[in-house]
Amino acid sequence: IQSETPASLIMIFGATGDLAKRKLYPSLYHLFRKGKLAEHFAVVGVARRPWTNEVLREHVKDSVLSSIHDAEDIEKFISHFYYQSHDVTDSQSYIQLKDLANQLDQKYSLEGNRIFYLAMAPEFFGTIAEHLKIDGLTDTDGFHRLVIEKPFGHDLDSAIQLNKQIRNVFSENDIYRIDHYLGKEMVQNIEVIRFANAIFEPQWNNRFISNIQITSSEMLGVEERGGYYETSGALRDMFQNHMLQMVALLAMEPPIRLTPKEIRSEKVKVLSALRSIENEEIKDYFVRGQYGPGEDNGQQLLGYREEMNVNPDSNTATFVAGKLMIDNFRWAGVPFYIRTGKRMTEKSTKIIIQFKDVPMNLYYNSEKKLAPNLLVIHIQPEEGITLHLNAKQSGQTMETTPVKLNFANNDVAGLNTPEAYEKLLFDCLRGDATNFTHWDEVALSWNFVDKISNFWENKKAEFPNYPAGSMGPEAADQLLEKDGFSWWPVSNYDIDDCK
Ligand code: BG6
Repeated sequence: IQSETPASLIMIFGATGDLAKRKLYPSLYHLFRKGKLAEHFAVVGVARRPWTNEVLREHVKDSVLSSIHDAEDIEKFISHFYYQSHDVTDSQSYIQLKDLANQLDQKYSLEGNRIFYLAMAPEFFGTIAEHLKIDGLTDTDGFHRLVIEKPFGHDLDSAIQLNKQIRNVFSENDIYRIDHYLGKEMVQNIEVIRFANAIFEPQWNNRFISNIQITSSEMLGVEERGGYYETSGALRDMFQNHMLQMVALLAMEPPIRLTPKEIRSEKVKVLSALRSIENEEIKDYFVRGQYGPGEDNGQQLLGYREEMNVNPDSNTATFVAGKLMIDNFRWAGVPFYIRTGKRMTEKSTKIIIQFKDVPMNLYYNSEKKLAPNLLVIHIQPEEGITLHLNAKQSGQTMETTPVKLNFANNDVAGLNTPEAYEKLLFDCLRGDATNFTHWDEVALSWNFVDKISNFWENKKAEFPNYPAGSMGPEAADQLLEKDGFSWWPVSNYDIDDCK
């Protein structure tokens, strides 16, 4: 693994936006401080506003200082930043940008290597890619990579359309579609837990696992993103990408080696094996929800329909729960239960693997039912793994008691840190596409999700159906109950208490 990135010019489209401020600038700074970002780098911030280099530099400094207190060398870092006020539909803007890029190539010896990071409204992704080519920004000798934020399309058709536009300019190998969950430490750990430990992989199948649950809950509502969220909802916003990516990593076969190509081909097989469900049968597999008014610690919370830029009659789901079946030899018969939503009781992402019961309970005199073994992968906010076992209670008894083996990652990232982006940016600069989403995965995910969204769009929902600050609608509990399961609690305290 290269320890340092090659010389490169990074162009950030959407430089005045929220993502750049919260994630990209602090991430670049971390790489710079750790000595991972080559001395030879320059960043051009591109956006509509009439800023100057100085304004951008102050903005970058503020964004770094808001997450890091000891920002040594910050002046040196920001001196690598340049700004161009830009109209994404106007060739003249790109020609100016090209001139600036060429000057910076010379000044910093950047060898013509360029990263184009699109951190802005998706409707311009295709237009920008086309202009980059037509107006000559990709005419240098070095590498040209396109980093593209989600959403990658709105459904399969629009994703195909967008893909065509960007593939006219960039080869698949040079397109880095971001799914920031793939940069999370414990998401990256899924394959290590599975493939570097002799004890798990032999049991990682339908003979030993009874069900797998993934919960990604958020406490926040849609905040000021109502306009976007109205067109997206939980299914497109979280499920099509982050949740399905976690499913693919959990369910894939061991790749023959750790190259992007081999890993992707295993993930693609999982997504192809998802049981395709259509029309009325969707009701047996998926539940949607929308939060109504609620309360959190005495604070009144608005319902989704009262939020800014949201239709007062909105049919958009802010919660989705689904049962996925992966129809292959390894997973036949094992449900993967997934749920994600806004305005739930806590911010947490956890994967819970529930093993099948032992063939009989010898400890029948125990008052408690023997607890099933669980392997819990704590993605956030805490990071780690717990393995839940049964042990003997100490003393003159053969009563059992649940115990927990705990691995807590000490390097905890916490919520909303730029950590995932730092890893992904580093990978992209080094040309490692392992933790980015390949087109085949995007297409299969949309193909699966479209059937559900089309079915829902044609049917008016009984919304709101869960109060803000709760774990979602009752129907999500019933989804598991009818299979004889229930959602495991997701807070740490409750996990301790699982009996
Ligand atoms: C984004 C979604 O992709 O992921 C947001 O668009 C969501 O709606 C966010 O809040 C959650 O990410 P994280 O890292 O905070 O779990």
